[in-house]
Amino acid sequence: MDTQSRTGQRIIHYRYGDPNAVLKVEDVTFDQPIGTGEVLVRVTRSMIHPGDLQLIAARYSDPAEPLPNGRIPGLEAAGVIEDAASGALEGTDLALGMRVAFFASGAWQSYATVPASSLVALPDELSDDVSTQVIINTIIARQVLRLGLRDMSPRPLRILQSATNSAVGKLITNFALQEGLEPIRLVRKPDNAAALPGILPGDHVICTEGEGWQDEVRKVAGDDITLAVDGVGGPMLTEFSRLLATKGRVVSYGSLAEAPSDMALYSFKGLTVIGATILTWQDDTTPEERDEDMRAAVEVGLSQKGLFGGGHVFTLKELDQAITAVTAPGKTGNIILTF
Ligand SMILES: NC(=O)c1ccc[n+]([C@@H]2O[C@H](COP(=O)([O-])OP(=O)(O)OC[C@H]3O[C@@H](n4cnc5c(N)ncnc54)[C@H](OP(=O)(O)O)[C@@H]3O)[C@@H](O)[C@H]2O)c1
Repeated sequence: MDTQSRTGQRIIHYRYGDPNAVLKVEDVTFDQPIGTGEVLVRVTRSMIHPGDLQLIAARYSDPAEPLPNGRIPGLEAAGVIEDAASGALEGTDLALGMRVAFFASGAWQSYATVPASSLVALPDELSDDVSTQVIINTIIARQVLRLGLRDMSPRPLRILQSATNSAVGKLITNFALQEGLEPIRLVRKPDNAAALPGILPGDHVICTEGEGWQDEVRKVAGDDITLAVDGVGGPMLTEFSRLLATKGRVVSYGSLAEAPSDMALYSFKGLTVIGATILTWQDDTTPEERDEDMRAAVEVGLSQKGLFGGGHVFTLKELDQAITAVTAPGKTGNIILTF
């Protein structure tokens, strides 16, 4: 462990609220000691997830909770290992100076101290811009399918999916195809519906903007939809309850619609809703499953570069524009901060 003091910047908020109003960029000296099992990473890129902004806005917590020492958002980044606690890298395939990506809190700063277990080594062929997009979205996509398929008998032939033009939606389609499932892909805009089969193979892409899309779903699958996955919430969860077979299952992993759902049919038809979140991935998986997910994240970044194009990189001076771009209509790729 060295004793060097490093300077850089961090993004921080001292109260919860509208991200454009509460986030600040501060100059800092990074000289705190590195704890047991921890590694210091010089962050180069960090993606802004829609969920990062929901956490800053206290969508799922008490907005009045005080933050006297501030909270540094961000849950994943790419960078380089600068330093490590004694023994932290022992028994790993990591070394000082290696390029890595990590899934850990407090990512939005020039130097992040994170557990060595949160890191994955990056191959030279995987750019930092792509590396910062692969970890969380791969984990949630694989966890959604893992929870959806667990103990399901008979195994479903198809999977009904919402928001399939989103970054997570595309990864769910990718891993569902690998599982031999046939996705029925819902997307709002006709242009995006037309483009999707060129990005990932499969016939059943249905645009939900007009009337009658539910009939198109029924035309493909009849009453035989036993598994659906949803990142939209609100009215989409209500629609899914109408489309699912009795005793069907929905894995809910997001609420882009920010609206309530009518759950009446969930009890009437004996449907199950399973919540999926990266926040409990550590507790809900075995070490082998977590290793597989990390390997799959790197592998999908290498083999499916088309899923990670169209993104936009912003400097910290452009933080306001970056935040606005995360939920802008017509978003074409992920939003990335450069440190
Ligand atoms: N549970 C977890 O731990 C976890 C982790 C990561 C992400 N997520 C969730 O995964 C979901 C997708 O995230 P992402 O990063 O992939 O999003 P994204 O790439 O920003 O894509 C969002 C896309 O979803 C569609 N969309 C947006 N609002 C919608 C609405 N109200 N109704 C229907 N479609 C809508 C839009 O595509 P079209 O206009 O083309 O339809 C939009 O381009 C979010 O709910 C996010 O919170 C959850």
